[in-house]
Amino acid sequence: MSRDTLTALVRTIPDFPKPGIQFRDITTLLADGEGLRELVERLVAIARPLDADLIVGIEARGFILGAALATALGKGFVPVRKAGKLPGPTVGIDYVLEYGTDRLELHEGQAPVGSRVILIDDLIATGGTAIAAAQLLQEQGASVLMALFAIDLPDLGGMAALKAQGIPAEAILTFE
Ligand code: PRP
Ligand code: ADE
Repeated sequence: MSRDTLTALVRTIPDFPKPGIQFRDITTLLADGEGLRELVERLVAIARPLDADLIVGIEARGFILGAALATALGKGFVPVRKAGKLPGPTVGIDYVLEYGTDRLELHEGQAPVGSRVILIDDLIATGGTAIAAAQLLQEQGASVLMALFAIDLPDLGGMAALKAQGIPAEAILTFE
C-alpha cells in the first residue's frame, strides 16, 4: 500500500477538541485491516534494526501502536501514562502544556538503567509530550534509541525539537 493510500485512511476532524484544531484521527486507519498492517509493517521496518530491549508507548493511542510493534518484534511493552492511572509505585515528570501543566508517569523499574528503548506515539505535534516521556526515561537511566510516530505535524516543530535534544525521531506520515 502506498504512503498516499495510508494517508487517505486518516480522517481529519475540524475544530476538535477546540476551534481551529484540525484533529488527525487515526481510528479510521486502525479500523482498516490492510491499512493497520501496512502502518505496523512500516514501523517494524524502522524499529527492527535498532534491536531495542523494550517498546514504551504513550497514553492513549501510543498503546495501540506500541503493543502491535512490541508483539511483532517479540519485545516487551511498557506504558507511560497520565498521572494517577498506574497502580504500582511510579516515577513521573511534570511538563508544560499550551495552557497549564500535566504529568506523565511510569512504573518504577520498568525502564531499567542501561535499557535500550524505543518510544512510540500516534502523533507528534509540539513535541511536549514525547520530550517529557523521553526525559523521564533518560532520568531512569534508559537510553532512548528513537522516538517513532505514525503522524508528524511538522508545522508545530515537535520532531525538530526532539532531534535538537539528541533523540532520533521518525514518522510514517506527515500532515502539513
Ligand atoms: C495527543 C497525541 C500525543 C500528543 C501530541 O495526545 O496522541 O500524545 O497529543 O501532542 P504534543 O506533541 O503537542 O505533545 P492527547 O493529548 O490527545 O491525549 P490522548 O492520547 O490520551 O487522547
Ligand atoms: N494531538 C495534538 N495535536 C493533534 C492533532 N492535530 N490531531 C490529533 N492529535 C493531536
